[in-house]
Amino acid sequence: MTIAFDEQTGTFHLRAGDCSYVMQLHKGSRLAHRYFGARLRRDSMAQPIDETFSLEVLPQEYPTYGISDFRVPAIEVQAHDGSTATDLRYAGHRILPGKPSLPGLPATYVEQETEADTLEIDLLDPLTEVRVTLRYTAFAEHSVIARSVSVTNGGTESVRLLRVLSAALDLSDADYEYRQLSGAWARERTVVQGPVTGGGHWIESRRGASSHQQNPCFALARPGTDERRGEVLALALVYSGNFLMGAEVDQFRTLRVAAGINPFDFAWHLEAGETFHAPEALLAYSGKGWGGLSRSWHRLFRTRLARGSHRDLPRPILINNWEATYFSFDRETLLDLGSSAAELGVELFVLDDGWFGKRDDDGSSLGDWTVDLRKLPGGLANIARELGARGMRFGLWFEPEMVSPDSDLYRAHPDWCLHVPGRERTLGRNQLVLDFSREDVCAEIVRRLTDILQSAPIRYVKWDMNRHMTEVGSALLPAHRQRETAHRYMLGLYRVMEEVTRRFPDILFESCSGGGGRFDPGMLYYMPQVWTSDNTDAIARLDIQFGTSQLYPASAMGAHVSAVPNHQVGRVTPLATRGLVAMMGNLGYELDVRKLSQEERDMMKEQIAFYKRVRPLVQFGDLYRLRDPANARDAAWMYVNAEKTEALVTYVRILAEANAPQVVLRLDGLDPQRDYRLERIVWEQADTAADGRQAWIAGGDELMSAGLVVPRLVGDYDACAWRLEDMR
Ligand code: DGJ
Repeated sequence: MTIAFDEQTGTFHLRAGDCSYVMQLHKGSRLAHRYFGARLRRDSMAQPIDETFSLEVLPQEYPTYGISDFRVPAIEVQAHDGSTATDLRYAGHRILPGKPSLPGLPATYVEQETEADTLEIDLLDPLTEVRVTLRYTAFAEHSVIARSVSVTNGGTESVRLLRVLSAALDLSDADYEYRQLSGAWARERTVVQGPVTGGGHWIESRRGASSHQQNPCFALARPGTDERRGEVLALALVYSGNFLMGAEVDQFRTLRVAAGINPFDFAWHLEAGETFHAPEALLAYSGKGWGGLSRSWHRLFRTRLARGSHRDLPRPILINNWEATYFSFDRETLLDLGSSAAELGVELFVLDDGWFGKRDDDGSSLGDWTVDLRKLPGGLANIARELGARGMRFGLWFEPEMVSPDSDLYRAHPDWCLHVPGRERTLGRNQLVLDFSREDVCAEIVRRLTDILQSAPIRYVKWDMNRHMTEVGSALLPAHRQRETAHRYMLGLYRVMEEVTRRFPDILFESCSGGGGRFDPGMLYYMPQVWTSDNTDAIARLDIQFGTSQLYPASAMGAHVSAVPNHQVGRVTPLATRGLVAMMGNLGYELDVRKLSQEERDMMKEQIAFYKRVRPLVQFGDLYRLRDPANARDAAWMYVNAEKTEALVTYVRILAEANAPQVVLRLDGLDPQRDYRLERIVWEQADTAADGRQAWIAGGDELMSAGLVVPRLVGDYDACAWRLEDMR
C-alpha cells in the first residue's frame, strides 16, 4: 500500500519510490499541503500547522479565489449569478488500488493494480454545489505522484470554469532555482535556469500546442544541485495544448507551485450534472540531482506513459527522404535512395511530405490524402512492395490536422477550419488548422487516414503539425462556448490519435511538429517517439538533445545524420561525429546516400552495424550526462544497461583548442565491483588521432573515481566513443 490515512490527525501520506507527499485536513475541513520531498518514515507529521490561521498563510493543495488567499488560485469558478468567489471544503475520500484512466485524456498507467494506489479526495463548494475531486496516484517503483482534477457541477444552475489547474502545492520556503526547457523552431528545449525571486516565475503556451518555445515541464532545485547531487522537485503536464506552469513567491517567501491548462483564453461552460476533467500533472522528486531526476522521468515515460506494441521493441534505423529531395522526387529516385540505404543496413524508408494531392511545394493539397500518381505511378503499395523486396520497411508522412486553402477538402468544406466569421483567416506555412473540436471533421480525417493506411503495407507513420492556432473559433460552438475551442481541439486530436493507433496497432507512430514543437508527455501516450528538431546539425543537436534528455528518454528522441554543409546552419562536421551524436537517440539518416563517397558509405555501414549492437543499451538503458555542451567546449554522455554489464560513452569536442588541457571523464552508473573491457570505437575515417582499435580493462570503481582519459583530438567537432562490457 503506497497510501496511508491517519484518521486521528487527518493526514494523508503518499509514498512513491524515494519520496513522500503529505497532506492534512486542517480543522477537518480544508486540505493543507504538508510536505513533498525525501521519503519519511512516520505516517503523520506531529508538528501542527501554523495556528495563526488565515488562508493567506495556510499551505494548500487546491487553493481557490475570492476568500482571502491572494496568491495564484488553482481554480476559479463563475457562478450563475456572475460571482467568482469559491470555497472548497473537504467532503470525503477514497483509496483505490491501481490507477483509474482519465476519460479522453492521455495519462500514465499501471499494468498491475499492485504497482500503485490512488487517493481521491472530494472537495465541495457549499454554495454552488460544485464538487472538485482531486486524484493522486503514488507509484510504488517511481518517485512520481500523478495528479488530476475533475470538476462536477452538482448544483441546479450552470457555472463557468475560468481556471482549472491540474496541480498546485505550497512549499514552505522559496530557496530554489528553477529550470525550464525553452527555445524556438530549430532551437528547441535548451536548458534555462535561474533563481526564483520575488513575484515568481511562470512559463506558458498560448499557441494551441505545447510549443517549441516552452516545454510543459518545470523544476525547482535547491541551490548547488548538479547532475549527481541535490534535491529537485519537478512538474510535467501530460497535455499538448496551451498550458501554464510555474511558481509564485509570496510576501512570506513561501512558494506556490502550479500547473495546468492555460486559463488565458479558456473558459468551460458546465451545465448541472456535467463533469470537466483537467489533464494529468506529474510531480517528481529526485534526491540525486538532475541526472537522477531525468532517469526517473525516462523510466516512467518509457514504461508507463508510452504504449503499444513498439513500446519495448528496438526502434528501426530509418532513412527519411526530406532533406535528400524535399518535394522533388519520383518513384525511381525513391527506389534508388531506398536500395542504396538498404545496402548499408538501414531498416525503414520514410517517405516524407509531397506524396499526395498535387503537392510540389508547401502551397497546396493538405487534406487531400490521395496518392499523387504523377510522382508515384503504381501507388504506395507498389513502392512499399518494391522497397520490401530490398529488405526495407516502408513509412509515410502525414499532416492530418491541417488543410491547404488550395485543396479539394477546403473547397468542399470551407467552415471545417478554425476561424472567426467575417475575419480574415491567417495563413501559416500557407495552411489553416482543421477544426478538430468538431466530431464530423475528426471522423472524416480518421476515414481518410484509414483508407491510405489500409492501401499499402505501411509500417511507420510520421504525424506532423506545422503551424499554431489563430482565429481560434469553431463554427459549431455557441458564443458562450467559443473559449472551449482550443481544449476541445486537443480532446478531438486525442480521440483521433487513439482511434488511428487502435486501428493500426502494428504501425510505429512518430509525432512531429515543425521538428520538436509538440514534444510533450501527452503526445508520447499515443506515439512513442518524436522528431526532436528540424535542426539536424550535430553540434546544434548537442544542446537540443541534452535539453530534451532532461525529461524524455532516448527511445523517444528521433536523431538523424544529415548532409554537410548542414542545411540549417551551414556547418561541416565529420560523419563520425554526426553518427555518434545521432546515436544519443533513435538513429536515422536524412541525406542523399547516393551522393556519398565509397569511404563515407563504408563508414555509414559500420555506424549502422555498431548501432544495432548498442541499440538496446541506448534505447532502454540509463542515461548519465557527463559534460554539458552549455560549457561551449565539449559534451559527453553515457548509457548503462539495467544490469550494469554494458555501457556506451561518447565524447564530442566542439572547437579545437591549442595546447588544450587533458580531458578526464569521471564515469557514472557503473558497478564499482565489476571489471569492464573498454573498446574504443574507431570507424574508418573516424577521429583523426585514431590509433587503431584499442581495448583494455578497468574497474568500474576506477572509471568512476579516477576517470577515463580522453585521447587528444585534432580539429573542430571531433568525437570519440567507447563501448564497455563486463568481464564476467
Ligand atoms: C516539418 C518536419 O519537421 C520536417 O521533418 C518535414 O517533415 C517537413 N515538415 C515537411 O513538410
